[in-house]
Amino acid sequence: MSSTEAGSKPVKKRVGVLISGRGSNMMSLVEATKAPDYPAEIVVVVSNRPEAPGLAWAKDRGIPTIALDHRTFRSREEFDDQLHRLLLAARVEIVACAGFMRLMTPELVANWHNRMINIHPSLLPCFKGLHTHERALAAGVRISGCTVHAVRHEMDTGPILGQAAVCVAANDTAESLAARVLAAEHKLYPQILRLFASDQILLDENAVITKHSFPESPAIFSPNI
Ligand code: GRF
Repeated sequence: MSSTEAGSKPVKKRVGVLISGRGSNMMSLVEATKAPDYPAEIVVVVSNRPEAPGLAWAKDRGIPTIALDHRTFRSREEFDDQLHRLLLAARVEIVACAGFMRLMTPELVANWHNRMINIHPSLLPCFKGLHTHERALAAGVRISGCTVHAVRHEMDTGPILGQAAVCVAANDTAESLAARVLAAEHKLYPQILRLFASDQILLDENAVITKHSFPESPAIFSPNI
């Protein structure tokens, strides 16, 4: 984080968050940005669904919100074009997708190349797309998790910025696994945004350069041995 010329007030990266529903990841980002040393601030929350609970939550907390109902647009191109304009108008520097359930046009992705990130509830490249937990259980994996990655046009691809792993319990259902992964998401996303916004994780085209030194952490065993 750098300082303004005027004095001590830190310059924070301006983040726009895109949601479509519950918005619990957006909430975890909002909570994290309250820390004085956090290098980013949420300047706008946009939802393509006006009825998204997360949008009301953000509005109640005085965060600028925009309901951009995709059903009122004639085409995906027009919706994405308007979304891009709104993000520019809010002087957004980083776009954080958090449960934004929309396929994007190549133009929108290109406009935010290496400045748009997303969280996905699996250890990518496994289980891209929907119903990740059902598919993880069906595949019999013993460890699952979540991934924060830079957005590319192909869904759930793009350079991986960070991951968190959780054990899959023998009696897990999709719901119980989803809850365990979601708890990890709420820790991972704010941590990775912190590193990304403070240039401790850098993208050089598709290469991820990590300046942050990670502490030694033990391996995760599942079943625990
Ligand atoms: C999360 O599991 C996220 O990884 C996925 O969609 C879900 C959104 O949940 N992309 P929420 O709206 O953040 O609560």
